[in-house]
Amino acid sequence: MKKFDRILYGGDYNPNQWPREIWAEDMRMFRDAHINSATINVFSWAKLQPSEDEYDFSELDEIVEMLSDENYDIVLGTSTGALPAWMAAKYPEVERTDYDGRHHKFGQRHNACPNSPIFQKYSKRLARKLAQRYGGNPHVKCWHISNEYGGECFCENCEKAFRIWLKEKYGTLEALNQAWNTEFWGHTIYDWNEVVLPNALSEGLWDGKTAFAGISVDYKRFNSDGILANYVAERDAIREYDKETPITTNLMGTYKGLDYFKWAKEMDIISWDNYPSYNTPWSGTAMCHDLMRGLKNAPFMLMEQTPSQQNWQPYNSLKRPGQMRAQSYQTLAHGADTIQFFQLRRSIGGCEKFHGAVIAHAGTENTRVFREVSQLGAELEKLGDTILGSRNEAQVGIVFDWDNYWALEYASGPSVDLSYVNQIHMYYQYFYDRNIAVDMIPFNADFQKYKMVVAPVLYMVKEGMAEELEAFAQNGGTLVTTYMSGIVGQSDNVHLGGYPGPLRKLAGVWVEEIDALAPEQHNEVLMNSGEKYTCSLVCDLMHLEGAQCLGAYGTDFYKGMPAVTRNCYGKGFVYYVGTQMEEAGLCSVLDQAAADAAVESVGPETEGLEVVCRRTQDSKIYFIMNFGDQERRMPSWLCHNRDLLSGEMVSEGTILRKYDTYVIQVRIR
Ligand code: GLA
Ligand code: ZN
Repeated sequence: MKKFDRILYGGDYNPNQWPREIWAEDMRMFRDAHINSATINVFSWAKLQPSEDEYDFSELDEIVEMLSDENYDIVLGTSTGALPAWMAAKYPEVERTDYDGRHHKFGQRHNACPNSPIFQKYSKRLARKLAQRYGGNPHVKCWHISNEYGGECFCENCEKAFRIWLKEKYGTLEALNQAWNTEFWGHTIYDWNEVVLPNALSEGLWDGKTAFAGISVDYKRFNSDGILANYVAERDAIREYDKETPITTNLMGTYKGLDYFKWAKEMDIISWDNYPSYNTPWSGTAMCHDLMRGLKNAPFMLMEQTPSQQNWQPYNSLKRPGQMRAQSYQTLAHGADTIQFFQLRRSIGGCEKFHGAVIAHAGTENTRVFREVSQLGAELEKLGDTILGSRNEAQVGIVFDWDNYWALEYASGPSVDLSYVNQIHMYYQYFYDRNIAVDMIPFNADFQKYKMVVAPVLYMVKEGMAEELEAFAQNGGTLVTTYMSGIVGQSDNVHLGGYPGPLRKLAGVWVEEIDALAPEQHNEVLMNSGEKYTCSLVCDLMHLEGAQCLGAYGTDFYKGMPAVTRNCYGKGFVYYVGTQMEEAGLCSVLDQAAADAAVESVGPETEGLEVVCRRTQDSKIYFIMNFGDQERRMPSWLCHNRDLLSGEMVSEGTILRKYDTYVIQVRIR
């Protein structure tokens, strides 16, 4: 596969929304901003195919030619993220049927039925035509299929496809009935045609919950696979004419609907869109980057971020001076090889007219945002290919698993407040705050690569996983797991014999009952060391089976029962955290686990700063960022090196104010 030879810097560009005079002006201004790349043709299906048997590439030809003449690296969309109106009018099946059973009309975007034969036929045909026409253009550096795939459809075509998917998975109705535990409420299926999609008209309960999580989780898997098949069809069509340009689609971080680990296997390079809210913690953004890097364990593309503000959040605050720059370096630090914006010129109409862009409605380069984009562009140009392809290394792996995400959030009980991403983030944050690098890993990762594996709310333990975790601990690894772990298997049926099921031996505890605490309720954990922490959400009532109690509940009828435990297993250790501890409490437990595992941070004296390392063959590249309000001093071990961005030496006197960022390269051989 071809690699990028510079940091792609640019983003979504829609000259088709503008008169020709503006195009030349764009070219001039982009040059000023050191922009070297444009993502085009993301939503042009209606233009490219004005009717069923008519194609017109003339405008796209002109755009491609203009950008090629200017030596832009083109990211070429396939435009299948929004349907043309004529197609919806003529073939209503291309539109989706929603969760409530309403069949949709033409409108919006990202809403084609993945199992519509018409959509499949025409999306594939368009991708093929584009590849045939532009696949040989050396300026096309990447293919961008559709846009932000997602959503669900509950139409008849999807229902038929679901039955076929199930037949392939289960083979017999007997196996299906067993997997779905259909004896419950007498839901036995005697004919494949009796299977219906689980939506509001069938198994759906209140608040998006379901009467049969086994069915609903299978639907999520089916839907993710079905949309992935759309991606694969277009990818393969492109490959008929273009054998070597990388192909991607823009993902969305912890987006729930698609099993990105499965998707990653079909993608040449991961790309994603980073849109934090005004109150998203920087650790949350860092976690998303690590997850996106983890999908293929490789550098990724930042396909979109806004240079200034958004339009679709409740409060679309401006990025403060320096914030976009710092956010961009955080992205590069965690493994990105590109920085791309949505979008290059602000729209005049439609719901995104208030969305930030490199060129504002004023149309001039004399804006704060343009100047900041231009400064960053100049810096990235200076960085050249220094960081391209360099790797992030981690001693800690945190498990992220879409099956778990779905199943945990479908569970009716014990608490509605169990949010998968929040739970994972709570643990991630500990490492983030200490500048300990983390890989986000799938349930079937090679655990042996890590000193420490953290698997919070590992509700669904699929076949083979417990054995791998046992081998990991046996060989000296430190495992941390928590409440709501080891409860069900792949079909959401309980692992019998006491919680945490297949993890019981590893953890050395038996969880007899799970109490749920309402938001206004608390318990406390009294640590052996004498410290006392409040705890909330759920409390596991557990018995020791070889583990040592690190802290016990302080109140209620289970006062004195263990709340947090540590088990010696083989040469390693297994921590079981039985309740959601307040931050300081969780930190004290994780301090001990991290000490057992002997995990190392990026270096000393980095408190209050984010410091991340990417490695090339012969150097370590450190990104040093201050996201806090307080001024910080450059850690002394990083001093007396040259900052690659400013070209200046950093010293003990170097002070980092909020959003200040440095990039330092240290040779290792
Ligand atoms: C998404 C889409 C873009 C645009 C931006 C706006 O990421 O991919 O087309 O709508 O949001 O933030
Ligand atoms: Zn459908």
